[in-house]
Amino acid sequence: MGFSPSLFAFMSFLLSLSLFYLIFAGFFSFVHPLCHDDESFALLKFKESFTINQSASDDPSAYPKVSLWKPESGDCCRWRGVKCNEDTGHVISIDLSSSCLYGSINSSSTLFQLVHLQSLNLADNHFNFSRIPTAFRQLSRLTNLDLSASAFSGQITSVILELSNLISLDLSSNYGLKLQKPGLRSIAHRLTNLKELHLSGVDISSTVPNILANLSSLTSLFLRECGLHGEFPIGIFHLPNLRSLSVRYNTYLKGSMPEFNQSSPLEFLGLSGTSFSGELPRSIGNLKSLDYFRATECNFFGPIPSSLANLTQLIMLQLGMNGLRGSIPLSISRLVNLENLDLYSNHLSGTVEFDLFMKLKNLKSLQLSRNNISLLTKPSTNATLLKFEILTLGSCNLNGFPDFLRNQDELGLLDLSANKIHGQIPKRMWSLSKETLWSLELNSNSLTGFDQLPAFLPWTNLRILELSSNKLRGSLPIPPPSIITYSVSNNSLTGQIPQRICNLSSAFTLDLSTNYLSGLLPKCLGNMSESLSVLNLHGNSFRGTIPDTFSEGNELKMIDFSQNQLQGRLPRSMANCTMLEVLNLGHNQMNDTFPFWLGILPELRVLILRSNGIYGAMGNPNSSFDFQNMRIIDLSNNEITGKLPSQYFQTWKAMRIVDVKGLVYLQANESFTTLGSRFFGSYPYSMTFTYKGTERVYEKITDLFIAIDLSGNRFEGKIPEVVGYLKGLQLLNLSNNFLTGPIPSSLVNLTNVEVLDFAQNKLSGVIPLQLVQLTFLAFFNVSHNHLMGPIPHGNQFDTFSNSSYSDNPELCGSPLSNKCGNSRDSPPPPSTFEENQMSTSSFKFGWKVVVMGYGCGFIVGLVVGQIVFRRKYDWVMKTFAIW
Ligand SMILES: *[C@@H]1O[C@H](CO)[C@@H](O)[C@H](O)[C@H]1NC(C)=O
Ligand SMILES: *[C@@H]1O[C@H](CO)[C@@H](O)[C@H](O)[C@H]1NC(C)=O
Ligand SMILES: *[C@@H]1O[C@H](CO)[C@@H](O)[C@H](O)[C@H]1NC(C)=O
Ligand SMILES: *[C@@H]1O[C@H](CO)[C@@H](O)[C@H](O)[C@H]1NC(C)=O
Ligand SMILES: *[C@@H]1O[C@H](CO)[C@@H](O)[C@H](O)[C@H]1NC(C)=O
Ligand SMILES: *[C@@H]1O[C@H](CO)[C@@H](O)[C@H](O)[C@H]1NC(C)=O
Ligand SMILES: *[C@@H]1O[C@H](CO)[C@@H](O)[C@H](O)[C@H]1NC(C)=O
Ligand SMILES: *[C@@H]1O[C@H](CO)[C@@H](O)[C@H](O)[C@H]1NC(C)=O
Ligand SMILES: *[C@@H]1O[C@H](CO)[C@@H](O)[C@H](O)[C@H]1NC(C)=O
Ligand SMILES: *[C@@H]1O[C@H](CO)[C@@H](O)[C@H](O)[C@H]1NC(C)=O
Repeated sequence: MGFSPSLFAFMSFLLSLSLFYLIFAGFFSFVHPLCHDDESFALLKFKESFTINQSASDDPSAYPKVSLWKPESGDCCRWRGVKCNEDTGHVISIDLSSSCLYGSINSSSTLFQLVHLQSLNLADNHFNFSRIPTAFRQLSRLTNLDLSASAFSGQITSVILELSNLISLDLSSNYGLKLQKPGLRSIAHRLTNLKELHLSGVDISSTVPNILANLSSLTSLFLRECGLHGEFPIGIFHLPNLRSLSVRYNTYLKGSMPEFNQSSPLEFLGLSGTSFSGELPRSIGNLKSLDYFRATECNFFGPIPSSLANLTQLIMLQLGMNGLRGSIPLSISRLVNLENLDLYSNHLSGTVEFDLFMKLKNLKSLQLSRNNISLLTKPSTNATLLKFEILTLGSCNLNGFPDFLRNQDELGLLDLSANKIHGQIPKRMWSLSKETLWSLELNSNSLTGFDQLPAFLPWTNLRILELSSNKLRGSLPIPPPSIITYSVSNNSLTGQIPQRICNLSSAFTLDLSTNYLSGLLPKCLGNMSESLSVLNLHGNSFRGTIPDTFSEGNELKMIDFSQNQLQGRLPRSMANCTMLEVLNLGHNQMNDTFPFWLGILPELRVLILRSNGIYGAMGNPNSSFDFQNMRIIDLSNNEITGKLPSQYFQTWKAMRIVDVKGLVYLQANESFTTLGSRFFGSYPYSMTFTYKGTERVYEKITDLFIAIDLSGNRFEGKIPEVVGYLKGLQLLNLSNNFLTGPIPSSLVNLTNVEVLDFAQNKLSGVIPLQLVQLTFLAFFNVSHNHLMGPIPHGNQFDTFSNSSYSDNPELCGSPLSNKCGNSRDSPPPPSTFEENQMSTSSFKFGWKVVVMGYGCGFIVGLVVGQIVFRRKYDWVMKTFAIW
């Protein structure tokens, strides 16, 4: 693994130049003119305009090169980072990259007095979000300008276009920079000598101009994360000297692979995270120089061309998260230099022998999860030769732990999820990569337990442990304190939660749901981890009260204690959970009044207290902002008395939202940086809810779902007209109460409503005829009331059966047999019923992890482990080659 040979060559060139210079200057300095006083003065003033701050540079080996720049230290041409013309003594080159410089820079800087400069490198410092000064105009001799990763911001000045001698321009990794006026087109138009154009991370937000394909000298073009869209000009692929090209993570950039011919010098090709599509051409086998090919998260389909196997120099081949089909070509074993092979989440099929990969002696990362591959691993496989860092073999039809794992002591990520592994996790796993393993996914197998489980799980740096949906028995295993996300949901674990769980102080997600755990909840649960966002204990046998230890400033977003035997009051310290979005205590024995005091939680969207002992009247909100974000409230099957909460109906403002743009799932997102990489994960919220009379599981909850369930209480009085304010409602269930009076005609305003359930009350009057306008209505139940008069007809109302109306002696008309006096049965109009928009997809996301190059603050999608660069290259990737 390494970085661009071209960059390397360039850097060694600089290095040798400076070595040469040092030697040369040492022996012959008397021959050359000393540096000019005014330039020496300018350099010193430039130095003084900054403070030295170690954190201004990211390179671990950064140091202040200017520290020895002093008036008394003579010839400035001999200062570190400075080079002069041998004949004239003018300063022609400054390299202060990674020099820990911190401070603002503007056009008054004495830097711009150094008008003979040809090369300026200020990369990896911190210029305090300065704009690029217009005084660059004075440096018209510049051929090389590198301001990358230096905290510049704002629109890039058009003065840059005047630097017509530029051969190399690197403004990448300044995430506040914009290139819009001028834009990319002007750059290509005016800077025609460019060989290197690196603008990764600069906000360009435009199409890619065709004229870029006229820059025939171009050797590297890095446009990663620039907000590019439109069609990528195919001519750019054919630039005769182009060795490095990256347009990664421009989500809306479309394009397809061209036909390549043998003359192409491409070494790096990065298309990941774009909308490139089509098949991979056979002619890709012509790219004889290609070392790195990254095309994950695109829309490529079709087979993996076997011609790829001709690219024997390939180091990285990443094709994960596309729509590739067919089998893995056997010829892939010819790619002996491959270090990283990512075929994650495609539609690949067929049987593959693991031995196929044994010839790839440098392979460190192999990702095959989420295909339909059957992987055969023979016990005889002598895999000591391969040391993996990333290995994802999920859904590969494995029926045991592959024997070759025994020798793996450098693994960081191991995914064996969704296989057919049964029995106990063998003892030998406890010695697997003890120090390095940070993610272990064994979920969705048939594991029953742990063979000789050590008192502590042995992986001291484990961040992610996924054991859900197995058949684990016995007591709850506690991961090491380094853990960030831990799931053992859907197993058969028993016993109490050990006190040791209080040590998981870095935890973000803790999901122990659907087991047979019992006993009291540990007191620490409310404050064990400052970062805990998701606490899911659903479906166990916990009893006693909920500890009243939710501390101020906690980050909890989801608390699900539903389906347990918890008792007593809701702990008042829950009012400290100001980030809380979902609170689910359904199916317990809570004994309390309605928790009006939760109304201050600004993010609370889902409140489920179904089937508890909530009693008394609901009362009125304290302020008109109470529960302002509430979208789903379920208080069904409690003992609530009094009138329906008409004042709350007016404060639940989020329930009035009708148009939600796009389909958004409620989830907790988290990112963290560890071991030199950045990880992104999300935990989608789930719940059960009564829909059309049956409880159903929502594996994910969409933003669109807005629902009130107050059924099975002792509400009395009328249904208030103000319920019609809640225009976004999809479900309103008031059944099984003691409600009287008419069905309000304001319900006609609930244009999104799918379920109206008023059964088992004492409602009287007629069914408002306007309700036929509710074209999404899929379930309507007014049975067991005292309604009278004709049943409305038309639209959805022609689809309801007599069970919707039964036991209302004075109702008449179809579908009841009880005929109305004057009515005639009209033929039903065509149904406009559409399947409801709620997503109940059975595909549960769970945690995904995105591994990115160090320090890039951009979310790029969901995928397990793209790549982990060895640490020393992280910085290189960031500063020189965000490609
Ligand atoms: C950084 O910029 C801010 C805002 O422009 C300014 O207040 C501050 O003094 C600057 N710091 C340095 C060290 O230049
Ligand atoms: C440029 O920065 C210097 C200090 O770094 C400051 O004194 C001067 O006022 C600034 N000039 C402008 C035009 O902002
Ligand atoms: C770009 O190249 C094309 C084809 O070589 C040529 O027709 C066009 O004039 C060039 N554009 C500019 C602005 O030089
Ligand atoms: C390969 O492509 C280049 C650029 O498109 C072209 O100039 C060259 O003639 C082509 N070579 C062959 C052998 O097709
Ligand atoms: C691979 O290379 C060999 C020899 O260089 C050539 O004969 C063969 O056609 C190439 N295969 C593909 C699929 O390009
Ligand atoms: C629970 O695990 C079983 C296998 O043990 C699996 O079949 C089932 O789908 C899982 N349920 C959920 C909700 O994940
Ligand atoms: C928690 O961790 C500390 C230090 O790591 C240790 O001393 C203590 O015994 C642990 N507590 C439990 C209950 O394991
Ligand atoms: C958690 O709460 C308990 C009881 O209130 C207290 O003793 C403990 O110090 C708290 N721990 C943290 C980390 O806040
Ligand atoms: C919130 O937490 C603080 C300190 O952790 C505690 O003193 C206070 O009682 C809590 N608030 C409520 C409403 O319980
Ligand atoms: C519920 O709480 C009230 C008040 O604290 C108490 O009088 C009542 O007995 C409790 N009910 C149950 C079922 O525990």
